[in-house]
Order: sequence, then structure tokens, then C-alpha cells
Amino acid sequence: MSREVEKRSAAKVAAPVLTLDGPTASGKGTVAHRLAQALGFHVLDSGSLYRVLALAAEHHAVSLDNAPALQVLAAHLDVQFSGDAAGETRIVLEGEDVSKVLRTEACGRSASLVAALPDVRLALLDRQRAFREAPGLVADGRDMGTVVFPDACLKIFLTASVEERAQRRYRQLLDKGFDASLAALSDDIRARDERDTQRSVAPLRPADDAIVLDSTDMTADDVVRRIMELARHTPSLGRRLQA
Ligand code: DC
Repeated sequence: MSREVEKRSAAKVAAPVLTLDGPTASGKGTVAHRLAQALGFHVLDSGSLYRVLALAAEHHAVSLDNAPALQVLAAHLDVQFSGDAAGETRIVLEGEDVSKVLRTEACGRSASLVAALPDVRLALLDRQRAFREAPGLVADGRDMGTVVFPDACLKIFLTASVEERAQRRYRQLLDKGFDASLAALSDDIRARDERDTQRSVAPLRPADDAIVLDSTDMTADDVVRRIMELARHTPSLGRRLQA
């Protein structure tokens, strides 16, 4: 290994990771971006990788239960993530900006199906770990603390009641100009929770060393404040915050 490559892989391992796991619509995305901004860290929205894969499957007419073909597609995904001026992540799949279509409920449902396939999860593992760069990473998903970054220095499991999550998703969709039904969203969130927690590989659950935060009665600002307080008491993050 050249000195330069050695130095880069050492920096990757050393870069601190804060993981933020939890069920669908628990507010992880908003909180992850705010934390990354406050800490000056990179951010990984791992759900968007599963969403991108579901979309790529549609583009290539690959059925969502064809595990071998999805695994090949996952290993060769031509996707770029970049921040735009407003701090939003722009996602380009095979040359096309798919940032908006990725957020639809239909895409989330398809993502949940492909995410249940063990070979697909394995094929996306290195791609997720490649986001670990200095000065650090906030990783948002379902298995960030349990599987992808088991050595993370701070692990948060963010949850909220189904009713509250349906309300949040409803407001978010209306704000983005999409149509939505609150009852359909609640049913969908229940079904997705069931699939994400019951799957055989990397099921949604808090890591043994995670701190569970129930945000049902908290605003996003409250959640960010609470996690930043925890970060200040986490040696590898606290040092950075005091610097
Ligand atoms: O967070 P999200 O709604 O964008 O995620 C879409 C789907 O992807 C969700 O149903 C579960 C799945 N997912 C997963 O299995 N593991 C992750 N680390 C992130 C998302």
C-alpha cells in the first residue's frame, strides 16, 4: 500500500461517527443534517441509497424480488451525492437528478422491499462505509449503529409514535407539493415498521450501546439540542466541540 493510501485509510478509520437510527419518519433526516452542520461533519442518508437502488431497478426493468440482478445493480450503481447552495443533498443517478422523485412514498415502499434482501445489503456496505471521512460523519439509517458502523462513538436511536410520525410525514409531503392522505400514511408507516423490524438481516433495532430518544413530544430543535449535549460528553466529539 502506498503511503498516501495508507494515510487515507487510517483517517477513515479514525474519523468519528455519530449514528442516528430509527423507524421511518422519525425525523432522522432533518436532525442528521442539523447535527452535521453543527459538528462540521459529512452526512450519510443511507435510506437514499436503498431508494436510488429501487429507482435504478425500475429504470432497468429489474423486478424488486430479483435478488441476484439487484445485487449486481447495487454493486455498479452510478450515483453521485453533492450538497447544493441551500444545504440540500442533490442526488444524480445515471446522469439524471433524482433528488425529488426519491422522496415519494412509492419510492420509499420499493426501497423497503429491496432493503429486505440480504445480498443487496451486503453489496451496499462498502459504499456506505466510504462516507466515513475526516473530520467525521453523521450516519442516518436503520442499521448504522448495529451493522455499518458498530464502532461509532455516539449511537442514537430516534423514535416517535406512529401517529406523530404520520403527522410529520403528512406535513412534509404537503410542504413539498405532494398529495397525501393521513390515514394511508399511518397504514404505510405501520407496514414499513413491520417489514423493517421483522426482516432476517439487519433488522431495525437499537444497538446495545445506543441511547434511545422518544421524540413524540419534542421538536426537531429539542432533539438536536439533546444530542449535541450528549456529543459534548462524548470524548472524541467533545474535544472537537471545545476546539
Ligand atoms: O429512511 P428512508 O425512509 O429513506 O429509507 C427507505 C427504506 O430503506 C426504509 O423502508 C428502510 C430501508 N433502509 C434500511 O433498510 N436500512 C437503512 N440503513 C436505511 C434505510
